[in-house]
Amino acid sequence: MSNEFLWVEKYRPLKIADTVLPDTLKQTFQKIVDGGEVPNMLFTGTAGLGKTTVARAICNELDLDYIVINGSENGNIDTLRGKIKQFASTVSLQGGTKVVILDEADYLNPQSTQPALRAFIEEFSNNCRFILTCNFKNRIIEPLHSRCGVYEFGFASKAQATACAGLFMKRAEDILNTENVTYDKSTLANLIMKHMPDWRRVLNELQRYGIATGHIDGNILSNLADSNYDDLFYYLKQKDFKKMRKWTADNIDTDASAIFRAIYDRMADKVTPQSIPQIVLILADYQYKNAFVADHELNVVACLTEVMANVEFV
Ligand SMILES: Nc1ncnc2c1ncn2[C@@H]1O[C@H](COP(=O)(O)OP(=O)(O)OP(=O)(O)O)[C@@H](O)[C@H]1O
Ligand SMILES: [Mg+2]
Repeated sequence: MSNEFLWVEKYRPLKIADTVLPDTLKQTFQKIVDGGEVPNMLFTGTAGLGKTTVARAICNELDLDYIVINGSENGNIDTLRGKIKQFASTVSLQGGTKVVILDEADYLNPQSTQPALRAFIEEFSNNCRFILTCNFKNRIIEPLHSRCGVYEFGFASKAQATACAGLFMKRAEDILNTENVTYDKSTLANLIMKHMPDWRRVLNELQRYGIATGHIDGNILSNLADSNYDDLFYYLKQKDFKKMRKWTADNIDTDASAIFRAIYDRMADKVTPQSIPQIVLILADYQYKNAFVADHELNVVACLTEVMANVEFV
């Protein structure tokens, strides 16, 4: 599927007014747009909340020259510096400030790249602002925090979460109507509750199921689980550690012990008969450990790594 057909891209809000955010956060960004001055900022929060979207929307509304650099793909300090320098040292066609959106900045090396970045921020400060986005703000070194206004995405209260769920529901209904996909309202509400605040995930699930069936009904919730686990078994079979790890991160919002159970329920026709005892023992072992570990995600990844190493798939 090319990008233009992905609903998450097609319906990425271009204006702050169209984003779904807690009121205070939205007003703060609206003020920045109205004032026309972009400060250095650090956006932090879990996946799919709108950090990159807001960074782009601000540049878009103010008609500013900007580039998006992905921290997970530009770990090397020289490439990063080269890119920023080339962009920052030419004069903006619009005449205004330029903006470097440094996406996934928590992937930049905290020993080498991040310290160098603080020098860039100063070096290019006369015509260039930086917006950093990250999932884990504790992976961003303190000197960068202090050079940026830090904005926490996510909800401070249940009331905020409920209000945003309502707004996103409206947005999702508009999208489904535009795409001629009919839907069952209560299913849509359940889907949103299940995945929020990962709005990207909500849209991706709606698109995947909506395109296949033309109608969103109760099956999306179970059907989604099946195809999701099909993906996982595929990664395990391919011994694709990276994708397995990402899958775990994306799905750890479900109770970790439910993941072990779901694998157990679906494994019969996925692994060779000789491997069944092995996988059962591994699952039972990590299911047990799950009650004591501090980091459930790490425990699931450890379990799946052991499965990958010891189990044969059909
Ligand atoms: N607050 C929001 N309001 C409306 N749509 C949103 C919002 N957040 C996310 N979306 C939808 O989800 C897509 C992905 O959002 P975005 O890339 O901004 O997430 P992110 O917070 O940067 O996530 P990540 O941490 O994974 O980079 C957007 O293109 C948009 O379609
Ligand atoms: Mg992002």
